[in-house]
Amino acid sequence: MSNTLHRDVKVPMELRGALRTGISLLREKQVTSYTLAAELLLLHVLGRDRAWLYAHPEEAISSQELDKFLCLIDRRANGEPTQHLTGKQEFWSLEFEVTPDVLIPRPETEHVIEVALGRLALRELRAGRPQKTNGEGFLIADIGTGSGCLAIALAKELPGATIYATDISSAALAVARRNAERHKVADRIHFLESDLALTLSVNGAAESAFDLIVSNPPYIPRRDAHTLAREVRDHEPVIALYGGEEGYELYAGLIALARRYLKPGGIFVAELGHDSLPAVQPLLDTREWTAVGVSNDLAGIPRVIAAGRSPQK
Ligand SMILES: C[S@@+](CC[C@H](N)C(=O)[O-])C[C@H]1O[C@@H](n2cnc3c(N)ncnc32)[C@H](O)[C@@H]1O
Repeated sequence: MSNTLHRDVKVPMELRGALRTGISLLREKQVTSYTLAAELLLLHVLGRDRAWLYAHPEEAISSQELDKFLCLIDRRANGEPTQHLTGKQEFWSLEFEVTPDVLIPRPETEHVIEVALGRLALRELRAGRPQKTNGEGFLIADIGTGSGCLAIALAKELPGATIYATDISSAALAVARRNAERHKVADRIHFLESDLALTLSVNGAAESAFDLIVSNPPYIPRRDAHTLAREVRDHEPVIALYGGEEGYELYAGLIALARRYLKPGGIFVAELGHDSLPAVQPLLDTREWTAVGVSNDLAGIPRVIAAGRSPQK
């Protein structure tokens, strides 16, 4: 065995023994969520799901599988995120490929989807149309798409919509494209490499044409880098993490873009950093926006800000 943490592991071994070993090695190294991490890594090596593992705990693990599992446990103990080792993360009940080129989708980002769908439903209701829309004819943009999780979740929820997904990183866009293909929505998502601005010569999309613009921009203050978990600081893309020295620097450009490209009555929804609300809300408290609203995440932190584009421009 080539690993360092586990020279004294005895083989042959049952799956439950392998799992216990993985858990205790990660616990010793004070890895967060060590039980879940060990379980996900074992399932990844076995190519099985959790239900199968718990139905067959006494099955023997082969020595190759055990070696592979313990190598992954070593790498996790040394700081690599579980998702980089398994290559995947669930978001909005969809499985996304993740690589070190993209931010690992976070559960709190699902609030962006919830708020966006809620606001679209309300807009339909007010217009006298059925509240449940399939998004027929809607134009949507996701700025800073990363893995594509927001664009793809919206494309699944709104099968009639056309979506533009932009990112400054071509490597991230390659991952997002693969995710769109995997979820069979690539024909409705245009991927654009761009620095905030939408390049809208494609398909006649134009200013004042969009129904919805969503974004989860980089928002961590660079001065807080030392407070981040090493999984994040050392392994996730710098361009996806930091919004600038204060963290909120990208919102002004993002809101200017949304003001330009949303149609009257169009909806803007963005994720917030944990202390960026005071800097961001004043940018929307103007005559050009209506119904500015903030939603908290499960930890009670203001997490999503949304607003409607005023009818008059
Ligand atoms: C916080 S990540 C969000 C990724 C994904 N939307 C999510 O929610 O998981 C921010 C993304 O914005 C991209 N980005 C950073 N600066 C940008 C800019 N100036 N213009 C466009 N995209 C940018 C990064 O490459 C990264 O993919």
